Amino acid sequence: MITESAIQSSFEIKHKEASDWINEVVQLCKPDQVQWCDGSKEEYDGLCQKLVDKGTFIRLNPEKRPNSYACFSDPSDVARVEDRTYICSKRKDDAGPTNNWMEPREMKQTLNKLLDGCMKGRTMYVIPFSMGPVGSSISHIGIEITDSEYVVVNMHIMTRVGKRVMDVLGKEGEFVKCLHTVGAPLKDGQKDVLWPTNQTTKYIVHYPEERSIVSYGSGYGGNALLGKKCFALRIASVMAQDEGWLAEHMLILGVESPEKEKSYVAAAFPSACGKTNFAMLIPPKEFKGWKVTTVGDDIAWIKTSKDGSLRAINPEAGYFGVAPGTNEKTNPNAMATISKNSIFTNVAVTPDGDVWWEGMTDQPPKDIIDWHGKKWDPTSGKPAAHPNARFTTPASQCPCIDEDWENPEGVPISAFIFGGRRSTTIPVVYQAPNWAFGVYLASTMGSETTAAAFGEVGKVRRDPFAMLPFCGYHMADYFNHWLQFGRNLQAPPRIFGVNWFLKDENGKFLWPGYGDNFRILKWIFERVRGKAAPIESPIGWMPSYEDIDWRGSEMTKEQFAKIIEIDSEAWKKELLSHAELFERMYDKLPKELIFMRELLLSSLWRSPAKWKLEPETV
Ligand code: GTP
Ligand code: SPV
Ligand code: MN
Repeated sequence: MITESAIQSSFEIKHKEASDWINEVVQLCKPDQVQWCDGSKEEYDGLCQKLVDKGTFIRLNPEKRPNSYACFSDPSDVARVEDRTYICSKRKDDAGPTNNWMEPREMKQTLNKLLDGCMKGRTMYVIPFSMGPVGSSISHIGIEITDSEYVVVNMHIMTRVGKRVMDVLGKEGEFVKCLHTVGAPLKDGQKDVLWPTNQTTKYIVHYPEERSIVSYGSGYGGNALLGKKCFALRIASVMAQDEGWLAEHMLILGVESPEKEKSYVAAAFPSACGKTNFAMLIPPKEFKGWKVTTVGDDIAWIKTSKDGSLRAINPEAGYFGVAPGTNEKTNPNAMATISKNSIFTNVAVTPDGDVWWEGMTDQPPKDIIDWHGKKWDPTSGKPAAHPNARFTTPASQCPCIDEDWENPEGVPISAFIFGGRRSTTIPVVYQAPNWAFGVYLASTMGSETTAAAFGEVGKVRRDPFAMLPFCGYHMADYFNHWLQFGRNLQAPPRIFGVNWFLKDENGKFLWPGYGDNFRILKWIFERVRGKAAPIESPIGWMPSYEDIDWRGSEMTKEQFAKIIEIDSEAWKKELLSHAELFERMYDKLPKELIFMRELLLSSLWRSPAKWKLEPETV
């Protein structure tokens, strides 16, 4: 049994509640050693070396990818596990119909059995971390306990770790308790596997009232790096509801014109639907003097400032981004960011010690090792990298990082953008005429499921605000929180819907996407500044062909008409599926959303079968 004096730390722990909790976890989980993390480079390098020695990490060729590593997870542990994710509020009603729920005491009984001795044979690491710049008034602190070195080194990149966080916490500061274990104890002398995980049992559990998290059985991304989805979204969304702010699954970017006018927007897209790409977008070369800068690529914390404006910060310090599809054309800024000091999970590895994934180059290199760690057979029809392969990389390395990305005051937000992955029905862009309409648009957003979560891929589901897997309380209360939040703002940001993923009958994308998305962003920028009069459609406001800047594009008026048309039959079906969503949360659904749906139905009722931007209307 470990005594308090056997806990290794290079600094004094003055926070009694923290040390009591850690001692309690030590008694329960029974690790061989306990080590506090100081966030230093030596610690990072030492743990990476330990992972190399174990065979978990492959050190990449320092000439090609300095100070970088690749690793392959267990095939059972490649994505978030939504069906194993729980919101254990005291009352079931507070978790709502879209979250799994269990009574907290019952869940604790279940978990305590699993946690008993779960770290035997392993080292328990204690990671004090700050979400947001250390010491900022909008930042919040967590302490993650984990038995995974992989988690420690990823947390080093994704958050701000170390002693300075404990200094801010002082003797009695508030922190979120984050307990993580891979759920794979080692018997005396048992050799570890390359990727420890519990293949049969996984639990990702949140106690919103206690502001605590327990994650059991997975070592992967959003399941294990508890600062990210568990804290910065699920727990923070509950804190935000209590305290009157927003914790959102949103990127934050800045747009600057050649005249140096600058606006910031925050945009919510479901997992693996283009946030990282949009956040780092490079305008087509014809747009001289226009610049897009990155504040964040996944999570935004948004608060009202004293002057009544909205301010957003990115609580993270790194990007945990989707690798497949990332290349020099689709996202050169991401490619530059990951050129060094990065960790690659479930990508393929080349014989010269570099990484590769589907879409990185047209032709795969010869003789690569796939994400199973085996020689890849290009004729097998199986991808070399897992579709949810990810890079972990420091935000500070991003060439287009915004100068204010770490400003503790945040950046002012002028617009919210919501975009799902939809091959039909949803036009490339439309604007909500007012806040309540915008909340409706976001609440009813649908998207095809992706490899970011375990389960069927490509099925349209409702993903309100891109927060379905991440809202820590009743989704209808969340809608109401947004409505209320807007009412309290002097000048609420404008709200837009976008869809980069429309396809024709042959499955070919109708919109080029990536850098071309800047054309749409520029229209949004102009709308926010009161320029470019929009056209009224049955579902909101839209740009005319002439209002979009087509320099360097070959898109014709007819092609544009196709991606902006409203098929009223398809939309009526869409509204039926909105009704299905609403029915699930009828008891708490804000009445505004019911009326808004009626209004939409009435305007679709009188619109032609296919509403188009006809030549006379553009
Ligand atoms: P999470 O990190 O899971 O929250 O995802 P994300 O929203 O940051 O996703 P990301 O930007 O990494 O995009 C993932 C996938 O979307 C990649 O396969 C991209 O190639 C694809 N993608 C991104 N932008 C576009 C676009 O404009 N058009 C098309 N067709 N695909 C895109
Ligand atoms: C997502 O799934 O939305 C992610 C990746 O950003 S993970 O951190 O694994 O949840
Ligand atoms: Mn995400």
